Amino acid sequence: MNILAIESSCDETACAILHDTTLLSNVVVSQIDIFKAYGGVIPEVAARNHLEAILPVIDKAISDAKTSWKDIGAIAVTHTPGLLGSLLIGTLTARTFAILHDKPLYAIHHLKSHIYSNWIEQNSSVAPKFPLLALVISGGHTQIIYMKEHNSFEIIGTTLDDAVGECFDKVAKILGLPYPGGPSIAKAAEKGNPDKYKFPHPKIDNLNFSFSGLKTAVLRTVQKTCSVSLDYPSHDLKNLLTSEQIADFAASFQKTAVDILLEKLVLAETKYENIKSIVFAGGVSANKALRKKANEIFSSLETSIEVSKENQPEPFKKRKNTANESPRIYFPAPQFSGDNAAMVAIAAYYEIQSGIEPTNPYTLDISPRSNIS
Ligand code: KG4
Ligand code: ZN
Repeated sequence: MNILAIESSCDETACAILHDTTLLSNVVVSQIDIFKAYGGVIPEVAARNHLEAILPVIDKAISDAKTSWKDIGAIAVTHTPGLLGSLLIGTLTARTFAILHDKPLYAIHHLKSHIYSNWIEQNSSVAPKFPLLALVISGGHTQIIYMKEHNSFEIIGTTLDDAVGECFDKVAKILGLPYPGGPSIAKAAEKGNPDKYKFPHPKIDNLNFSFSGLKTAVLRTVQKTCSVSLDYPSHDLKNLLTSEQIADFAASFQKTAVDILLEKLVLAETKYENIKSIVFAGGVSANKALRKKANEIFSSLETSIEVSKENQPEPFKKRKNTANESPRIYFPAPQFSGDNAAMVAIAAYYEIQSGIEPTNPYTLDISPRSNIS
């Protein structure tokens, strides 16, 4: 069956068509260039741009897939969480087409889509196995989710304040790096020394996260390095930093953020029995330093478990799994780690497989915040 999916929860207008698990087309129009000038997303501007882009994006997805409305079996759309105006454009469009063309409509949670980005074009022999842990790391969320089977989500850890992507974006602003902050920090970090500055890890015993302290620690260290007082305007600090200092701050911050994420993931894996797969999801999962470190901790154990454990910081040494039991880790392909509609389509595909009923196109509502379910 062909599924046409629409995503418009933040600043990407996207449409994709999936035939079972095979992607036929994937169109993403990003508003990043518009928001670079402002240093962040302005919700009203985002909604207006979605309105202009959505119909051409859908038309292109249909023509790229060489199909027509007649051969679309179902429509899927992101309805929560996200920016209200942005969600409204996507859902109203999807509802209208569902009614007009008499197609079943599936309302998909955005974090579910991010998790399912790991199933795109994966047949059942290589797809993630259950039970699994999902680390959802985006601009608005930082959560560890336990899944015992498809469409079953238990949030076992969440951030108590900022999301990790938000922290990347805020630290990038302090360092004067362009929006979006995550890729800018990652690029600047390539030339930096990750051990130059030490930032504390939050002292939280359970699986929850906190990132606001890390952002403040970076700010205080930059102020100290520049010999300015605590009330010095943070947007002016960038003018006092050398490019070498910016690279070192980016690398040291990135290393700390990655370690905080992976320490909690290791803790989750030791607490939950028999984890078969670990899937990473959301914009921050594109981060190369994170991918490298996660591979060192989980995958390379197959060849040199003792050596790699010896080199790890204390929490990473506590992993109880032996090489044979080590869960397989999955990262979305780079084009599916940020917002896109292919992940919405694949999430709908697994809802249909599980026998979940479509939603009513006349009454589907949106919500800016809601937990995955
Ligand atoms: O999933 P996403 O595209 O949108 C949301 O659902 O929030 O995630 C966006 C977040 C932003 O905070 C962005 O800075 C971050 O993902 N991000 C990265 C990287 N690429 C995007 N963070 C770290 N490293 C990256 N390479
Ligand atoms: Zn997202």
